[in-house]
Amino acid sequence: MSNQDDLKKLEKLREQALLGGGEKRIQAQHQKGKYTARERIEKLLDANSFEEFDMFVTHRSSDPGLVDKKIPGDGVITGYGTIDGKLVFVFSHDFTVFGGSLSETFAEKVIKLMDMAAKVGAPLIGLNDSGGARIQEGIESLAGYAEIFYRNVKYSGVIPQLSAVMGPCAGGAVYSPAITDFIIMVDQTSYMFVTGPKVVKTVTSEEVTEETLGGAKVHSSKSGVAHFVTENEDDALMMLRKLISYMPQNNMEDPDVIPCSDPVERMDEFLNSYIPENPNKPYDMKKIIEAVMDNHEFLEVQRNYAPNMIIAFARLNGRSVGIVANQPKYLAGVLDIDASVKAARFVRFCDAFNIPLITFVDVPGFMPGTRQEYGGIIKHGAKLLYAFAEATVPKLTVIVKNAFGGAYDVMSSKHLRADLNYVWPSGRIAVMGPRGAVQILYRKELEKLENPEERIKELEQQYNEHFANPYLAAQRGYVDDVIEPCTTRFRLIKGLEMLVTKRDDTPPKKHGNIPL
Ligand code: HXC
Repeated sequence: MSNQDDLKKLEKLREQALLGGGEKRIQAQHQKGKYTARERIEKLLDANSFEEFDMFVTHRSSDPGLVDKKIPGDGVITGYGTIDGKLVFVFSHDFTVFGGSLSETFAEKVIKLMDMAAKVGAPLIGLNDSGGARIQEGIESLAGYAEIFYRNVKYSGVIPQLSAVMGPCAGGAVYSPAITDFIIMVDQTSYMFVTGPKVVKTVTSEEVTEETLGGAKVHSSKSGVAHFVTENEDDALMMLRKLISYMPQNNMEDPDVIPCSDPVERMDEFLNSYIPENPNKPYDMKKIIEAVMDNHEFLEVQRNYAPNMIIAFARLNGRSVGIVANQPKYLAGVLDIDASVKAARFVRFCDAFNIPLITFVDVPGFMPGTRQEYGGIIKHGAKLLYAFAEATVPKLTVIVKNAFGGAYDVMSSKHLRADLNYVWPSGRIAVMGPRGAVQILYRKELEKLENPEERIKELEQQYNEHFANPYLAAQRGYVDDVIEPCTTRFRLIKGLEMLVTKRDDTPPKKHGNIPL
């Protein structure tokens, strides 16, 4: 054969590989409103930056139904490229090839990619669209999944791992994303379940659709499995690019500092009168976050899950920060099970990847009641406490209003090693709110009164003056300063820049035992 023939053969093989499961299946994919695995990679990465591995890998199954059906690539496309010039590793399931199901060789391709990403210290992105373990490969595909899960865990906290779910994903195809740091789902075209509706019906007689069992809405609002939902695949891929911009390449690096045109001294005067004087009137914590952060921007994570807690990425003078904030607009910003778990995982992500934490506090306490106690609020609330206490990144806290009881301690208080704690003049730091305190301290006196309301108000005022104010904490140095609200942006940026070189550590240990 001549050189020309050799080249033609290569070209032909590449053409074949590029077609995946063939034109018909590609059309079917498009008809469902989905891109192909290759189209997704192209849209995710910087133009012409993709370099592919293992295009010619085929399965090794001797199953009679599969033996003649060898498709180059075997249902997953793997390689590396760049996002805004930063190196990332990507695998993309090809649903046109055996429903994107995972074979032994498919798993080997993903494993090779994961090991390479960890070796060079760059993020790993998975574009998932897969029917799970390839049924015909049996135990080999189960083994392949376990090898992937093992690496998801081994590299957790070493390189950022991001997942987009862009089709029906079942079995192993959901457990691997579940271990990764963030999951994005596409509304109406993506599903995640351990077992699909047919199996559910057989086992439990329950009739459910794919959407009600594991659609994007379910996982973003009920289960909390998904961190973001987008309307379409383009937005999901853009979201991945945006997320990457807030992260470092690995745990040994800091996130990029980008040029910031928003003045450091910008003061939004409305903050000085934003907290309502009426304690029962709610307000929107997001307005405060917007006013303080660069360009009034933040990227909220898990927006529709436990909305009484806000978690978000943002920037302060170009530096990436993670925000944790109580949202008084929902349930008065109370700490319940879902809110605690949501924030705890985010705090641990930020700590693992050197992203400083900014905490805004207005919290009335932990949610009381049997539902929460039976659900384990004690151990779940302890997760947030644990996460803040363990975090060694710069931690800056602003108490804007209430910081009551154990929730004061939990929300990145000085006592949990926060570095800078500020409080607004509207802050009320106390064991409990005035109403509860007065009822306990003066119960006997109040029981004797026919109409106690007026006396209660008087006692509440006294309580606020003596206990629920910012100055008792300031006198003890539990907060570093009582600040004018409109200076918050300036104070946080100054503090953050002072803390850039912060070094802190924990005693040597194998790992702690977070109350799971
Ligand atoms: C082999 C599979 C497959 C699988 C799909 N296909 N899943 N082949 N193994 N797991 C094939 C189909 O036979 C079909 O081939 C093609 O892919 C497209 O599938 P359809 O069913 O036609 O597509 P759709 O109607 O969109 O349904 C998609 C689906 C469904 C919801 C993913 O295919 C499904 O329920 N698959 C099985 C899911 C599952 O239970 N997987 C095993 C999980 S156990 P043809 O040639 O007919 O077009 C697991 C264990 C890991 O993963 C360990 C976990 C801890």
